[in-house]
Amino acid sequence: MVNQIRLCPGDAKDEVVKTSRAGNMLIEAYSPFGGSGGENILASPFLETLSKKYGRTASQICVRWCLQKDFLPPPKSASAEHIAANIKVFDFEITEEDMRTLDGLPGYSDPFPHPDYITW
Ligand SMILES: NC(=O)c1ccc[n+]([C@@H]2O[C@H](COP(=O)([O-])OP(=O)(O)OC[C@H]3O[C@@H](n4cnc5c(N)ncnc54)[C@H](OP(=O)(O)O)[C@@H]3O)[C@@H](O)[C@H]2O)c1
Repeated sequence: MVNQIRLCPGDAKDEVVKTSRAGNMLIEAYSPFGGSGGENILASPFLETLSKKYGRTASQICVRWCLQKDFLPPPKSASAEHIAANIKVFDFEITEEDMRTLDGLPGYSDPFPHPDYITW
């Protein structure tokens, strides 16, 4: 089984991830860059810092963050250049400290209402 949910740096959804894994589900991280229309995190200053530190693009940092968290990321791009770049993520590793900072990156939480609090 797969649970496809929005996951990106700043939106790690620990509780739903933990619960899904307890049910033996693969976690698929949709909008791993925050999404096309809204809060695209690729311009985040912290991502820019990590880009310089690791010599990788912000998109590669996001995809790598997903992989190190055991999420399956389906990044979307209409650009052949971006698609090629987005899969070059298997020859570097983000430190645990940077992973934790990415988990809690402020300003990129889920823009959609929590299902428990929607007023139907
Ligand atoms: N289950 C659901 O409810 C749900 C909801 C939303 C999305 N999804 C799925 O999740 C997938 C991805 O989500 P998404 O499209 O919302 O967001 P996303 O993958 O987080 O972001 C896509 C945006 O990132 C840009 N981008 C991609 N690679 C880049 C790169 N290397 N450098 C710079 N910009 C780059 C793309 O522009 P370019 O085209 O210019 O590269 C596009 O504007 C899609 O396949 C979608 O179907 C599922």
